[in-house]
Amino acid sequence: MGCQYHDPIHNGATSFTVAMPRLTFGRGSLAEIGARSARHGLKKVALFSDPYLANGPLVETAKSSLAAAGIEASVFSDIRVEPCDDTVMRGAAFLNDGSFDGIVSVGGGSVIDTAKGALLVYHHGGNIVDYFAPPIGQGKTAPGPVMPHLACPTTSGTGSECTSITVIRVNSLNTKFVIANPYLLPTEAIVDPQCCDSLPSNVIASTGFDLCCHALECFTARAYNQHANVDDPNARQYIQGANPFSDMVAREALDIVNHYLVRGVNDKDDAQARDKLMWGATLAGIAFGNCGTHLPHAMSYGITHLMHDITTEGYAIESPFVPHGISVVVNAPAIFDYTAQATQERHMEGAHCLGADAKGATVEDAGEVLSKRLIQLMRETHMPNGLGGVGFNESHIKALAESSVRQARAIANAPRESNLTDIENMYSNALSYW
Ligand SMILES: [Fe+2]
Repeated sequence: MGCQYHDPIHNGATSFTVAMPRLTFGRGSLAEIGARSARHGLKKVALFSDPYLANGPLVETAKSSLAAAGIEASVFSDIRVEPCDDTVMRGAAFLNDGSFDGIVSVGGGSVIDTAKGALLVYHHGGNIVDYFAPPIGQGKTAPGPVMPHLACPTTSGTGSECTSITVIRVNSLNTKFVIANPYLLPTEAIVDPQCCDSLPSNVIASTGFDLCCHALECFTARAYNQHANVDDPNARQYIQGANPFSDMVAREALDIVNHYLVRGVNDKDDAQARDKLMWGATLAGIAFGNCGTHLPHAMSYGITHLMHDITTEGYAIESPFVPHGISVVVNAPAIFDYTAQATQERHMEGAHCLGADAKGATVEDAGEVLSKRLIQLMRETHMPNGLGGVGFNESHIKALAESSVRQARAIANAPRESNLTDIENMYSNALSYW
């Protein structure tokens, strides 16, 4: 394979777009939220958070900073992990009642995604489900901008503060789907690694593999010029495929995973490693916000759809629950072994960025080298042993594949095509790794 950006397809895309919010990164930067909000002329903001953070020091820091800048803040915290359409509609109703001129979100991806969805409904009406692509919704689009949204993540994984997508569970289908719209991109991202100081190791591990897979999926995604061109440049979607910008950012994020994931998980006092992981999560969010993920994320949705009696320690949520990063990484070694056959050099370079031992390997071994390195990282961070480790067995494979195959756009962003049988085979190969 040559340079993939010099192999355009007929009627393939000839341009790519890069979008990201104004970004502030650093210890203590959460206390800048008042000054940053004032710069946008905000006077009264809705402060979205979750029930666990709402009475804690992080939200208190944000409230104090906003008050010091003369900005009134009302807290909305009726947000559960993995928000559903009802959660978003409650958030939109809160906005309707408040005469706010902006939103500040302080929380993990669930909080930031709820804020994004609530903004869509508040400004452009309807039900949040209307905004999902058919057949889930009506493909309703946002015809114009929404009010300023300043997003402050409190976990080092989702990268939602840097993306124009929101992931919402549709209650009637019990499955998560993605809404993408350029107006969902937060106005500012304020990323303060101090927010992660008290996170338990298993949360650092799960969110760390989320960032790892964001970066690795971007780095191995179908190239942007292998996607169809769009007639309207404004219709160009965030799932535009790998491009030189997302490559550059993803490489750095993978290097951070290589050097700091195991350290950050296994030593809660390793502030350097945890700060680096927060930076890596930001970079990986920027990468996938400008490229799109592919099969590991698409196939994670089957797991969160069909999970049964599983609760993971450290998460304040009722069973059944599999943390997002775990639902993504348990399939990843089997998936990258499959996709590597399409773009072996890319997969080998990704494996190198992750620090894989490729002594004696040829490029034909890329899938095996990369999946072995992922398995090594999973073992060193005490991850479940594949699908079997989160309670699934051979009898669940068909249903998992039937659920995940609905994530058509993400599946189409993979470097290798896959049908229902291929996805079943990947799930089978992900049942157990060691
Ligand atoms: Fe993710």
